Amino acid sequence: MDTVEITRVAQDPTIDRQPFTPDMRVSHMNDYLICFYDGREIAEYPAWLHTNIDMQLGLCCYVLHRGEKAIIFDTMLYREHIIWIDAYLEQMGVKHVSVINSHWDCDHIAGNFLYKNRDIISTSKTRLKLEANAEMFRTGEIWAMSGDPYYPGVEEVILPNRTFDGRMTLYLDDIRIDLIETFVHQIGHLVAYLPQDQILLAGDACEDTVPFNAPAMTSELPIQLETYRELLGLGAKTVYPCHGRFEVIDGGGYTNEFIAAMLDYNVKLLDRANDEDFLSAPVESFIQPWLDRGVLALHEPYRALHRNNLKIAKQFYGGRSKVSTESLRF
Ligand SMILES: [Fe+2]
Ligand SMILES: [Fe+2]
Repeated sequence: MDTVEITRVAQDPTIDRQPFTPDMRVSHMNDYLICFYDGREIAEYPAWLHTNIDMQLGLCCYVLHRGEKAIIFDTMLYREHIIWIDAYLEQMGVKHVSVINSHWDCDHIAGNFLYKNRDIISTSKTRLKLEANAEMFRTGEIWAMSGDPYYPGVEEVILPNRTFDGRMTLYLDDIRIDLIETFVHQIGHLVAYLPQDQILLAGDACEDTVPFNAPAMTSELPIQLETYRELLGLGAKTVYPCHGRFEVIDGGGYTNEFIAAMLDYNVKLLDRANDEDFLSAPVESFIQPWLDRGVLALHEPYRALHRNNLKIAKQFYGGRSKVSTESLRF
């Protein structure tokens, strides 16, 4: 299986998409939090799924539940995913579902169609991005922009109907959920912090092996670094990302060091942007100490994300005076 490059490709409307049943991995991390995970091990799936980089990276969503109520934190990539998850929740006795969209990327909103008349919460920027780009989501063009010619498109683009800027707190019975808009990854991204148990649902703020820095956020990398420092300051004991290793999520989760690793990687992007070999510098040269300590593990498809990060960082910070990162380290 070839690793996907993050580059625009033509959509292929002739593909015969064989149906698939997700080989979903499920972890009940505690008595109210579940992870639903797919990807990484995709050799047995139909070929049209192999060209999606999120399937190669591995992706997951989280569900908070109490009795008959549940909140789904991100609705995954394919309709098959959310239908599978919804059936699982129904078997658990869940009758009332609400949704949080951490951001507007396809792998976090595609299943919204199943919850058309429910509360769907996001930042106001996420709603705006979805609304403005709805046609790209519907046709699947959004994924052809990132190397997948076969993405079927989102069945119906259902916009969040509860939006906020900055911060919002909600409760699922006794569970407090602080939604915090964060300047990382994509405009309008949010994370969910559960203060009672010091759990951070990090969305795509933290990824194992490296974060994906969209151009808009890369253009203001120092602000992104400050955001990682603020996330570190929450003092989370456990961090759960939407793209990580299932074994780690299932085995107790990541620690605050995961956030520190993201910050450190981004500091190095700025520090090295004028190096001669910058564009060909291997990802290991940015994260070796974190690999050595087991905080991160090298997953081959992340090399493409790293190359993409280098390319964008070079555009903004190459050939100019160096950005001072002294006050932005951890
Ligand atoms: Fe994302
Ligand atoms: Fe994602």
